[in-house]
Amino acid sequence: KPTADEIQALIDGQMHLEGPLLPILHALQEAYDHVPEAALGMIAETLNLTKAEVHGVMSFYHDFRKAPAGRHVVKICRAEACQSMGANALSDAVLEKLGIGWGGTTSDGLVTVEAVYCLGLCACAPAAMVDDRLIARADAARLEKALEGAA
Ligand code: FES
Repeated sequence: KPTADEIQALIDGQMHLEGPLLPILHALQEAYDHVPEAALGMIAETLNLTKAEVHGVMSFYHDFRKAPAGRHVVKICRAEACQSMGANALSDAVLEKLGIGWGGTTSDGLVTVEAVYCLGLCACAPAAMVDDRLIARADAARLEKALEGAA
């Protein structure tokens, strides 16, 4: 578990930048695979913001996690081109099968499902990613197969 000193050191390390909030969030996520709840108050204090403001920025960007991810991360594109090609039905099916919601992790810690907004594969929508692997024309079976391959 990250200590307050470690968190503060990461925050201080970005303070020379103009607009340090996003770099701080990125540095924390990089170090811990999520932005620890304990860091929010410390960031707020250091940057003279409210905790709600820090939280607002963090949730505006979809990159930041509140908890560490599972062993594998499935990202499903929710942007327009993919939505028009059935991304909603796909994500509904995947989330229901895993029994989690967006951003959730299965209870065995194996899979986290996150939303992304365009993977640059619009021509082959719907698009998804399993860990670092891009999946074009994704469907539930393809995602399952990719997950098995990644296990
Ligand atoms: Fe989904 Fe571009 S909209 S990849």
